Amino acid sequence: MLVCLPVGVGAVRVHAEGIRTGEARREDDVARVIVGMTSSLDGFVADQSGSASRLYPDLSALQGTTYMDAMIERTGAVLMGRRAFEMGDPDRYVGNYEFQTPIFVLTHRPPAVMPKQDERLTFTFVTDGVDSAVSRAAAAAGDKAVQVIGGASTVQQVLGAGLVDELHVDVMPVLLGAGLRLFPADSRLDGLRLEKIDLQEVGPRTSLRFRVTR
Ligand SMILES: NC(=O)c1ccc[n+]([C@@H]2O[C@H](COP(=O)([O-])OP(=O)(O)OC[C@H]3O[C@@H](n4cnc5c(N)ncnc54)[C@H](OP(=O)(O)O)[C@@H]3O)[C@@H](O)[C@H]2O)c1
Repeated sequence: MLVCLPVGVGAVRVHAEGIRTGEARREDDVARVIVGMTSSLDGFVADQSGSASRLYPDLSALQGTTYMDAMIERTGAVLMGRRAFEMGDPDRYVGNYEFQTPIFVLTHRPPAVMPKQDERLTFTFVTDGVDSAVSRAAAAAGDKAVQVIGGASTVQQVLGAGLVDELHVDVMPVLLGAGLRLFPADSRLDGLRLEKIDLQEVGPRTSLRFRVTR
């Protein structure tokens, strides 16, 4: 199962001011809606077959790390598009997915049979748009953050609607050459302003964080 923002042991954090520190910035505590994806160096989040596996060769090494645990602790709900949801076996989210939280799935066609759920991980299939999806996820998240884990269409919509507080992009040193672009030409994104708030070296990854404003 894909994670929203792979991070790992031994990460070096370099803040925007250039000061290396292990302390989390205050912004980390107040962001309510976070978008996190892993991109190839040439800007793709999946290859031409729709697979993101070449962007996650380190996935197993990242499990159970301090940083990953902090990300999980920070997350109160997850939002994803139907295609991202269908990348995994819907019945295997419970007990296996990184985020054992309420999950909201954007779709025009909810499944006839609900996937397996438990008292922590529930599914809500949202058919009335991104504003509604983010609003419902935020309510479920309580005082924690909503993690928008993809895919590209979902990320572009929440960014375009001005619903995102932080954008996290992990850049992997991989050239896919073609595939699904994280940021294709999209006039909805024209007014976005990004302020770099954090940078981490995480094994082969370069993990970039931006505060998002308009
Ligand atoms: N690199 C990474 O970090 C990462 C992470 C996650 C996923 N991925 C990749 O991303 C790809 C999937 O991304 P994607 O952009 O194709 O799709 P997506 O955003 O995951 O899902 C798109 C689908 O969500 C539903 N949807 C989207 N907006 C909606 C709206 N406003 N109202 C109702 N339903 C809406 C539609 O489903 P219906 O057909 O049901 O209408 C649409 O076809 C996969 O190839 C995966 O490998 C990469």
